[in-house]
Amino acid sequence: MSNKTNQQWGGRFNEPTDAFVARFTASVEFDQRMYRQDIQGSVAHATMLTEAGVLTVAERDMIIQGLSEISTDIEEGRFEWSIELEDVHMNIEAALTAKIGITGKKLHTGRSRNDQVATDIRLYLRDEIDLILLEITRLQEGLLGLAHQEADTIMPGFTHLQTAQPVTFGHHLMAWFEMLSRDYDRFVDTRKRVNIMPLGAAALAGTTYPIQRDITCKLLGFDAPAENSLDAVSDRDFGIEFCAASSLLLMHMTRMSEELVLWTSAQFNFINLPDRFCTGSSIMPQKKNPDVPELVRGKSGRVYGHLFSLLTLMKSQPLAYNKDNQEDKEPLFDTIDTVKGCLRAYADMVPALESRKDYMREAALRGFSTATDLADYLVRQGMPFRDAHEVVGKSVAYGIETGKDLGEMTLAELKQFSGTIAEDVFDVLTLEGSVAARNHIGGTAPDQVRAAVTRGQEKLGARAQ
Ligand code: ARG
Repeated sequence: MSNKTNQQWGGRFNEPTDAFVARFTASVEFDQRMYRQDIQGSVAHATMLTEAGVLTVAERDMIIQGLSEISTDIEEGRFEWSIELEDVHMNIEAALTAKIGITGKKLHTGRSRNDQVATDIRLYLRDEIDLILLEITRLQEGLLGLAHQEADTIMPGFTHLQTAQPVTFGHHLMAWFEMLSRDYDRFVDTRKRVNIMPLGAAALAGTTYPIQRDITCKLLGFDAPAENSLDAVSDRDFGIEFCAASSLLLMHMTRMSEELVLWTSAQFNFINLPDRFCTGSSIMPQKKNPDVPELVRGKSGRVYGHLFSLLTLMKSQPLAYNKDNQEDKEPLFDTIDTVKGCLRAYADMVPALESRKDYMREAALRGFSTATDLADYLVRQGMPFRDAHEVVGKSVAYGIETGKDLGEMTLAELKQFSGTIAEDVFDVLTLEGSVAARNHIGGTAPDQVRAAVTRGQEKLGARAQ
């Protein structure tokens, strides 16, 4: 064998790989971040091979010792990654052989890089999902705290971004909490399909060695070995699913972001974002920009993009492994980094939000936000809802003309539109009366918000178990 060809697979080759092709096909620059999982998988594989009688105990111990030293070398920045060795798997294997000699070459018995890489990605993703779940919970804890604090705070609720009905700020925050609960569940569900073990599938068809997949499965904490070797080495649907769950999470975060951007503007002035989450302008000294929400809103783009990259990457791939799959890593890694960054920023920022209750209240008082309450009042007096809608519509028209909100009109003014309106109408035309009346599960009444916060705390408490 010419020593100019690749040491790992160069046996049948007569000339070395073109230098550009070597760089073009290498993945080590980005897949080295899976080194821990690669070593973890190799230790489990060597342990299993020993149980199966393929390696001796002494060989296993040398391999494990060598891998542990490599792990330290990498962590301490001493390891030299080489493009010629293509990827994280071959770099580590070559380093092992350099350290312990011929025994290192036995590690790859009964295994292929195809099942190895599929195993590494699943281990990596599983660990990252666990961190993401913790961060979603931290953000939700912040929302619960703030919602409890703001259970009585009144703000305008919107449809079409037009003032619709008064709501409590706590209720609005609990809507965000609900979105995140579903995102959490989606990641938990995705994790079930991630946590399946490809190892043992080898290149595509399985292996002739007496491997015991249940042993590696248990050692690596997988729920089960993959049922079909062809499927195990080829499909990346679990990664696509992860990007889909991430896209939905980011979509929800863009909605929160958009509201924070609106609410911090001078036109709304509903909340104050502490200075440490904002930046200024180099030219306009008065500016304080809500950069964190804006950036999170913008970062949704790359996550949606990664979802489409992976869908397209997988589309039409014939069984089993194809090199296309090497392209799965960068979109996945960037999705992980982006999701973790956005969650961290929000989990830090949300508890620090300060409401401007006077501005919120003022805004709720404008825009006839208790019009539905007046209609409901008339219905309780026996008027059909459609007629009540008409009566209130006329009162609103009068209010626009005279510049008065419904609650600011006198009883005599209101009586012009329906003779049955009495003094008690003012109980429902107040903002407090309006929100307190929506007193059922899922409604905006302050007591309901407090009850929802309690249920939310129970939900998060159950996760900790
Ligand atoms: N670096 C490769 C990847 O990420 C590892 C698997 C390579 N397998 C192969 N048959 N070339 O997919």
